[in-house]
Formats: sequence, structure tokens, C-alpha cells
Amino acid sequence: MSPDDAVINIFFSPEGLDDPTPYYRHLRETAPVHHSATGAIFLTRFADCNEILRDNRWGKSNRGGNSLIPTTDPEVLAFRQKQLERQIAEKRATSMLFLNPPHHTRQRSLVSRAFTPRRVEQLREQIGVLADRIVGDFVRTGGGDLLEGIGFPLPVAVIGTMVGVPEADWPKFRKLITASAAGIEPAATLDELLAAEESQAEVVAYFKALVDKRRAKPCDDLLSDLIAVEEAGDSLSEGEIIAVSMLLFAAGFETTTNLIGNGMGALLGNPDEQQKLWADPALLPSAVDEMLRWDSPVQLDVRTALEPAELLGEPVDAGTRVVTLLGAANRDPDQFTDPDRFDISRDEGTPMSFASGIHYCLGANLSRAEGQEVFGALINHCASVELDGELKRRNRMTLRGFEAMPVKVHRR
Ligand code: HEM
Repeated sequence: MSPDDAVINIFFSPEGLDDPTPYYRHLRETAPVHHSATGAIFLTRFADCNEILRDNRWGKSNRGGNSLIPTTDPEVLAFRQKQLERQIAEKRATSMLFLNPPHHTRQRSLVSRAFTPRRVEQLREQIGVLADRIVGDFVRTGGGDLLEGIGFPLPVAVIGTMVGVPEADWPKFRKLITASAAGIEPAATLDELLAAEESQAEVVAYFKALVDKRRAKPCDDLLSDLIAVEEAGDSLSEGEIIAVSMLLFAAGFETTTNLIGNGMGALLGNPDEQQKLWADPALLPSAVDEMLRWDSPVQLDVRTALEPAELLGEPVDAGTRVVTLLGAANRDPDQFTDPDRFDISRDEGTPMSFASGIHYCLGANLSRAEGQEVFGALINHCASVELDGELKRRNRMTLRGFEAMPVKVHRR
């Protein structure tokens, strides 16, 4: 298998979507700095991903119109290119996720003023109560789809409450955000991109109306804080408030839903580790970090050389794109002992799942807390959880998760 075949398999083959690990290993062992046929470079070693993500000569660029993976449909490329031109022409405000310094620094610092430790702490207390209620309800019914019953409701309640999205609106967002997120998948089809654009427009319109409401009548929520935030005479524009609140809300549950689902998937596939956790809940913090490492909810990140730069000592042209395969970095034997073993008592440092450098996930501790509370509540409410049907992966790689997770729970 050539390195390009490995890349194609990761994104397009049922085997790769089911488990990319063998392809990651092949790349790491045969071409750890792989210059692919598209010109994009794929990195699979932990230290290399870390180095690039922490080097600000590498940043975000809206060259998203180009394909990252060989064999991408030309219609898809043309669509992405047009979409990009439209976004530039409309001068659409974007969130920090797509910005470089100094704009990134400014926006992240303004948002951090609203995303205060007090707000996160307030939520931490509520997360335990919410997890107990949601997991308790699920267990009383004997089981079902764990993603529908727990994986989605808990994170959406947490981030919905924090941002200030009314509860009545939460259910409709699962489909809308999932559809919108197809835009960041390198292997998205034309239909998925069209659906993503439609859903994004609906989400933007929703948040625009919500911002207007909060401007007229502020509440004790993050959205009102974002509107009020000011630092050295600077504040967020209307477009930025919409983009940031959408980012926080979307990033706040899509990824955490997958942390809960992928984490449960790892426990189901490793029953000894499930028993170990059930016998010793003090292992919850290391268990959640191991779930993040083992099957990361975010598998890749992309950076572009903003100026002529170096890639691990080699000179590269401005515009060169690098894909840091975070999921592969998490299985690097130079970083983690026996990396393909799922070991909930592992203590070998933070996985690459929240990235590194200036874009390091703002919600890392919040999502860890959610994971710990959910699995803690499962331990409290049931003796064991077992699979009750077939597990099917989503057709996604950037945001990796399951379509559904049918389980049976045995009450204590
Ligand atoms: C298990 C759950 C989560 C995972 C795996 C995750 C992963 C990530 C990753 C990999 C990035 C960096 C993206 C890049 O470099 O391009 C990121 C950024 C970000 N995440 Fe998370 N995330 C999670 C949960 C959350 C939650 C709960 C929130 C909100 C409260 C959140 C808010 C953000 C924000 C705002 C950024 C952008 C930071 C920046 O660009 O400076 N994330 N996340």
C-alpha cells in the first residue's frame, strides 16, 4: 500500500472509517511526513503535530477550496472554491477557530473575558445534577440508543444553558449542527456540502435573532456577556458575536457527544477495562483522558504556511498545507507505551485530542468534566452496560463518532 492509498483508505474506505489505526500506523512507519499527491502534507507523529500546531508561521487560511485528499470529486472542488469566493466577497465575520494573530488573539481574549472560570465553575456544579438525572432516566427505561438518550442531551443542556439557547430549541440543533459540520470534512460529498450550507444559514438566522433578543433584554448567560464584553475600548462586532456563539454552541456538544459515544464504544470493546472502572471510580479522570486518546472525537487539524516556512527542518513555500492527524499522534509509540492498548489507568500526559498551541480547545476542561460526570452517573445507576445491536460509524473523519449506540443497561 502506498502512503497515498493509506490516506484514501482513511477517508473513503469502510475499513478506514471503521478503524483508521492500521492506516495511521502504516503512514507513521513508512512516511511520517507524507507529501501527498494533492500537495498537502500529512503528519502522524505526536512530536511533529505538536511542533507545527505551536508554530505561528503555520496558521488558518481560507484556501479551503483546494482538495486535501487525492481522488476528490472535481464538482466538490468547484463548489468549495465558489463558496470561498462568496464568503470573501461578503466579508463574513468568522470565529477565532478560523483566525490568525492578531485577530485571533484579540477575539480569544475578548471571549475569554466572558468565558470566565466563574461561569465554568457554576456549570461544573450543575453538570453532576444534570448527568444524574439524564443517566437515571435512561437507565430506568432499560437502555436504548445511548447517543440519543445521554450523549446528546447532556452536552446540549450544559452548553445550551451556558450560552443561553432556550431549552425548547435544543432538540432541533442535533441534526442542524451535524449537517453544518460536514463543511469541515475533507471527504464531504456535494450533497453533504449543499445540506451543510442550508443548515448553516438556518443556524446563523437563529443566532442573529437570539442576539437581537439578548441585546434588547440581557440575561445571566454567556451570550449577554459577549454582547457586553469590552476590553481596552474594544468589543465584539455583531457578526463576531453571532460567529462566536455559534462556535461555542456547536463545538460544545457535537464533540462531547462523540466523547461519550466513543468512550462507551471503547469500554464495550474492552470489557475488562469497563469492570476495572466500575470497581474503582477514582479512575474516572484518567479513564476519560484515555477515551479521548484512544478514539479522539476530533481526528485532524489543518494548518497552512502563512509565509515561507520550515516543516521539521525542510523549507516549504507559503501556502503549503499540513494535515496534523491528531488521532494518529495519539497512537504514536514514541509518546504512549503500547499505544494500541486501551488502559484506563494510563498516566502519560494529555492526548493531542484538544490540539495544541494558540487554538488549544477552550472547552477542554468543561468536556472532561462532562465525560467524568456521565460515566460516574452510569457507574452509580447500573451494574453494567452491554451492546444490544450493531454499532455503525458515522461517515465522518474530522469529527469522529457513531451514528447510534444501542445498549442494554442492567440496573443496580
Ligand atoms: C471532547 C470534546 C472536545 C474536543 C475533542 C475538542 C477539540 C478541539 C480541538 C481539536 C480544537 C482545535 C481546533 C483547531 O486547532 O483548529 C478545539 C478548539 C475549540 N474548542 Fe473544543 N473540543 C471539545 C469540546 C469543546 C467544548 C465543550 C467547547 C465549548 C465550550 C469547545 C470550544 C472550543 C473553541 C471555542 C475552540 C476554538 C479555540 C481557538 O480557535 O482559539 N470545545 N476544540
